Amino acid sequence: MKKHIAHLLLLLLTTFLATQFTSAVDFLLNGFDSSDVSLYGNATIESRILTLTNDTTFSIGRALYPSRIRTKQPNTSVVLPFSTSFIFAMAPYEGRLPGHGIVFLFVPHVGIQGSSSAQHLGLFNFTNNGNSSNHVFGVEFDVFKNEEFRDINDNHVGIDVNSLISLNASEAGYWPDGENSFKKLTLNNGKNYQVWIDFADNIVNVTMAPVGMKRPRQPLLSFPLNLSEVLEDEMYVGFTAATGALIESHKILAWSFSNTNFSHSDSLITRGLPSFELPKTPIHKTKGFIAGFTVGLLVFVTVCSVAVFLLIRMNRRIRRQRDEMEDWELEYWPHRMTYQEIELATKNFSEENVIGIGGNGKVYKGILPGGSAVAVKRISHEKNEGIRAFLAEISSLGRLKHRNLVGLRGWCKKEKGSLILVYDYMENESLDKRVFECDESKMASYEDRIRILKQVASGILYLHYGWEAKVLHRDIKSSNVLLDRDMNARLGDFGLARMHDHDKVAGTTRVVGTVGYLAPEVVRSGRSSTQTDVFGYGVLILEVICGRRPIEEGKPTLVEWVWELLRRGELLYAVDTRLRARGGLNEEEVERVLQLGLLCAHPDPNARPTMRQVVKLFEGKIEVDEPEEGEDMEIYLLEKMKTKEIWSMYPQIFNSGSSSSHPTFEEIRKGLFGTMSHSWSDTTVEGR
Ligand SMILES: *[C@@H]1O[C@H](CO)[C@@H](O)[C@H](O)[C@H]1NC(C)=O
Ligand SMILES: *[C@@H]1O[C@H](CO)[C@@H](O)[C@H](O)[C@H]1NC(C)=O
Ligand SMILES: *[C@@H]1O[C@H](CO)[C@@H](O)[C@H](O)[C@H]1NC(C)=O
Ligand SMILES: *[C@@H]1O[C@H](CO)[C@@H](O)[C@H](O)[C@H]1NC(C)=O
Ligand SMILES: *[C@@H]1O[C@H](CO)[C@@H](O)[C@H](O)[C@H]1NC(C)=O
Ligand SMILES: *[C@@H]1O[C@H](CO)[C@@H](O)[C@H](O)[C@H]1NC(C)=O
Ligand SMILES: *[C@@H]1O[C@H](CO)[C@@H](O)[C@H](O)[C@H]1NC(C)=O
Ligand SMILES: *[C@@H]1O[C@H](CO)[C@@H](O)[C@H](O)[C@H]1NC(C)=O
Ligand SMILES: *[C@@H]1O[C@H](CO)[C@@H](O)[C@H](O)[C@H]1NC(C)=O
Repeated sequence: MKKHIAHLLLLLLTTFLATQFTSAVDFLLNGFDSSDVSLYGNATIESRILTLTNDTTFSIGRALYPSRIRTKQPNTSVVLPFSTSFIFAMAPYEGRLPGHGIVFLFVPHVGIQGSSSAQHLGLFNFTNNGNSSNHVFGVEFDVFKNEEFRDINDNHVGIDVNSLISLNASEAGYWPDGENSFKKLTLNNGKNYQVWIDFADNIVNVTMAPVGMKRPRQPLLSFPLNLSEVLEDEMYVGFTAATGALIESHKILAWSFSNTNFSHSDSLITRGLPSFELPKTPIHKTKGFIAGFTVGLLVFVTVCSVAVFLLIRMNRRIRRQRDEMEDWELEYWPHRMTYQEIELATKNFSEENVIGIGGNGKVYKGILPGGSAVAVKRISHEKNEGIRAFLAEISSLGRLKHRNLVGLRGWCKKEKGSLILVYDYMENESLDKRVFECDESKMASYEDRIRILKQVASGILYLHYGWEAKVLHRDIKSSNVLLDRDMNARLGDFGLARMHDHDKVAGTTRVVGTVGYLAPEVVRSGRSSTQTDVFGYGVLILEVICGRRPIEEGKPTLVEWVWELLRRGELLYAVDTRLRARGGLNEEEVERVLQLGLLCAHPDPNARPTMRQVVKLFEGKIEVDEPEEGEDMEIYLLEKMKTKEIWSMYPQIFNSGSSSSHPTFEEIRKGLFGTMSHSWSDTTVEGR
């Protein structure tokens, strides 16, 4: 009997040990070989560095530890503790805007199915984001602020469970030991950072620091989390990353993971790692200085004084250059204000005067000595990108005057600190607040929305044709349309605008704009034109009439959705339900406006109307069927609609059924523009 019990105990012990053994995972990778991880999508290993994405737009890369790992104590829902650490870098490409981020993740399956690029980070897609059957736990290092995922900023670390809406997030950075101040880290500057992620007792801790630094004691994120429902019993673990039209390359240099030995994370080799920072422009160096040391005291002093003399001269020259620059600025740009004036107006930039936080910095309300209200935009000097954007903003907006553009009052450049722009104050905030974030009483009525769209069109028309140089806005969206006291629309935020001569082909290698409003050709080639503004305007029309953001989780894009409704003959369902509830819609007009939106957001730039044509159409011609002289609108649109591309651009919609179920072009054209006819002759340019 005793023997039996001893035997049983032994058996239990061995099974216990066996399960303990199989659930133990323990690895330390100081550099990668192809056998260390399995690669999916665009992930590659070169020189022992794991690169998740390459410089193709909309690339996804994923790397997973080759075998599943056990995540729970056998036959229980108790999640095993784990500790992982890795070193990553987000390498910027010269002259391109930052893209999207890296995610450390647990997934139930291999491969990249079910994930999209860009803002979905190669983690989820439109339909499965937020679905609890994903069984995904991730820690994101994201450099894009996505409003639909409620991202806190464009440089954050977040804890994600089955969704890109982070459960908890923080600005990237660390709390240095023994200090009470937070140190911000910029994720995508090419620098190498070490991350530690620990899970135990239903708490997940995330810590990061510049590579080489001892792990700070206080974690960046410390968040209570019960993973027992999230993780399956066995999971794959690894990294995923994605790019959009905005690109950088995502690299992992070393990685350790363990659920038994928690001291691995201190064994990552942090020295001698390559750097992915862009080379800085070299700073002037003073030569012939060191020679002085080897010679006698007299010579030393002489050399010193010569050097000092030279330095002072050089300094003076630099300062003179700066002054010259500012003289030139004064010649062209509007009134320069003193910092004191602006300080006084905004009560010393007090927090209570903050009326908004833009992509470039905070916006304050201010009162000038005369009593007129202004909006003061302030940008700090540390980001070169922002400065350049603002200089462009001054130089274009400052000289442009139109009743549908936000007027620039003045500006101020502080020697050290910040660049400040002073605009006319817009009493009624931005259009998106009147469409999306408001109660019934504040919501823009249908008539308001149509009038606002007309006014925006005339503002864009002025930008495109009203000035001696063609000005592209490049970032037309509802949050950039501001409303003045009389609810008149004024297009603002020319931070992304660049001047173009009428004759020159507008071109750029950098993609600027906002995801969801970017024309397909911008995403493909990075080139902007007046027709890409027309695309943005088309999306704006749809957004304002439908009361839906261009991109929303779990849904097709706005443009695709409206096309689909048009195809099914249910266009009116697209209209904002709150507007429909109010009733009194002019259905025919609504349909035409939506059709105009779709035409403007046509994938083929040549098929889009020009702003001239749009404004003409709005000048009373949308509601009235009044044939005019000149080219017939039907013929014009028939020509435009003949571009077959539209079918291939939206394959999900148009290639889904059998071809016989597709409406013919004739049907689409009839459906789109009915009997409306119109002359496309040029309009006169609106006043300055
Ligand atoms: C990107 O990665 C893929 C591998 O998925 C490769 O075929 C392609 O050539 C790479 N492109 C560039 C531009 O490096
Ligand atoms: C990988 O890169 C190629 C181009 O180099 C691209 O065509 C392909 O879609 C990319 N694959 C993924 C999964 O991102
Ligand atoms: C866990 O459950 C499986 C079947 O459900 C069983 O075969 C195994 O012996 C159990 N293991 C332990 C340690 O209880
Ligand atoms: C998203 O991924 C799921 C699989 O997880 C797939 O069934 C679905 O079709 C995908 N949706 C899109 C829009 O790609
Ligand atoms: C979540 O995904 C599962 C499986 O893909 C699907 O059956 C279910 O309908 C989805 N749930 C939601 C709310 O989308
Ligand atoms: C993150 O979680 C901590 C602790 O639970 C909490 O104090 C903090 O407000 C959270 N932050 C966000 C952005 O959710
Ligand atoms: C997480 O951080 C907190 C606060 O520093 C600490 O008390 C806790 O032990 C940590 N947990 C893990 C799993 O590292
Ligand atoms: C975690 O969730 C599981 C399942 O919902 C539950 O059984 C367990 O008690 C939870 N653990 C804690 C510590 O709350
Ligand atoms: C734990 O890991 C450290 C560093 O990798 C190693 O030196 C140590 O021997 C390991 N301990 C055990 C018990 O495996």
